[in-house]
Amino acid sequence: MHLFFSYFCGPFEEARLMSVKSLIDSRNIPNHIAVIMDGNGRWAKQRNKPRVFGHRNGVKAVKNITEAAAELGVKYLTLFAFSKENWNRPSLEVNTLMNLFVKTVGRELSTLMENNIRLEAIGEIERLPKATFEALQYAKENTRHNDQMTLILALNYSGRWEIVEAVKKLSKSLSEGKITADEIDEKLFAGYLETASFPDPDLMIRTSGEFRLSNYMMWQLSYTELYFTEVLWPDFSKEHLYEAIYAYQSRERRFGMTSDQLMKS
Ligand code: FPP
Repeated sequence: MHLFFSYFCGPFEEARLMSVKSLIDSRNIPNHIAVIMDGNGRWAKQRNKPRVFGHRNGVKAVKNITEAAAELGVKYLTLFAFSKENWNRPSLEVNTLMNLFVKTVGRELSTLMENNIRLEAIGEIERLPKATFEALQYAKENTRHNDQMTLILALNYSGRWEIVEAVKKLSKSLSEGKITADEIDEKLFAGYLETASFPDPDLMIRTSGEFRLSNYMMWQLSYTELYFTEVLWPDFSKEHLYEAIYAYQSRERRFGMTSDQLMKS
């Protein structure tokens, strides 16, 4: 990995990124980082390989970033692994991805346990292929007491789907008389989302130079700092994560207030 990284970045770029870690303020680590892992297909194409080669290499980046985030003290890491729209891809790619999820979750269960990481999922996971669903349930069940970090996989997930589902559930509660219309506010609504038990992301990273949200966490990203990088997902290293966190720390999060108000608070 080290040699590979040097080859693509050059020794000076590598040294620059390495030094970023020492600049990170350990008192201001984002509590929740959400990631759109993009660029696997292009990474494979650059090497004249099939798209699935990119996904397989993307797993290494998943491991590196999970490890680095947990080490830094990030409490929640959400990875967009498969969207509702991704079902429209060629069936070979969809099947390969589903098998990759089964294999990776199974193979990495011991790593999750060793690193005290809880696995969770958002999305309509019960409609995934049976083997994928069962592998996820097994890992979720076995890691449920781990508390260093929660790794959340967004699988068969999309933001608008999630909001519509929340509206359906909320309507049911209304019609059953469990809540009244006057009680509905942002907090109550958020409790019907897939992310009900997780805080909103502080930082959202998208790789591969695309500047879109692609239906990802449409409710939750309202006040999240957005970070876009040209780096393709399989090349996204721990050092790139440090760089994103360093950029996050240089931002002023105002939540609608003025800078002066923030200074006084
Ligand atoms: C987007 O790149 C990537 C995906 C849709 C799949 C992400 C999956 C992995 C990184 C594999 C393993 C994940 C886990 C959690 C075990 P793209 O295919 O859209 O790339 P492109 O835009 O270059 O075509």
